[in-house]
Amino acid sequence: MKKLVIGLGVMAFVWTVQAQAAEVTWQKDIKPIFDKQCAGCHGKDSPEAAEFKKDKKKWMDKGIGMRMDTYSHLLAFVGWPDAGALMRRLDDGSGKADKKAGNMYEQLGDNEAERKANLDIFKSWVGNWNTKRWSDVSKEELNSIKAKY
Ligand code: HEC
Repeated sequence: MKKLVIGLGVMAFVWTVQAQAAEVTWQKDIKPIFDKQCAGCHGKDSPEAAEFKKDKKKWMDKGIGMRMDTYSHLLAFVGWPDAGALMRRLDDGSGKADKKAGNMYEQLGDNEAERKANLDIFKSWVGNWNTKRWSDVSKEELNSIKAKY
């Protein structure tokens, strides 16, 4: 009986630790936020980043940005080629040297509480919230990015 109680206790402990460590993933956590807050301008009808850059004005006049609505598209703004772009644009200012919020921070929610909560989810997803560009970011810093599918 004692063994059973201890066994159950251990199982409950392991289960709790696992639940707490439940990984933030693109599918489960990021996509729903993205679809609601970002896809209107960065959805499937938006151009590839390189296409956008060719004629930025044309796309800006239409009020849309570059495509980011799939896991692979979004990763290009986390790691390569546009290292740290997602972090620089979404940061509330606390993670940047100039302390200014990125210009996409306001898109994270309709009010400050929602923006903060969604920013926290993006931060947990990325794992290493680093705003450095490709030329400045180190291999170690890139290695600590989680950004799980
Ligand atoms: C109202 C339209 C709109 C919404 C909504 C929007 N964006 Fe943007 N976004 C743009 C436009 C236009 C640009 C390009 C102009 C610029 O660089 O600011 C841009 C640029 C970006 C960039 C910079 C990409 C680069 O090449 O450096 C990132 C990252 C980004 N957005 C992420 C997001 C995320 C994440 C969301 C949702 C939380 C979001 N945006 C919501 C219009 C939008």
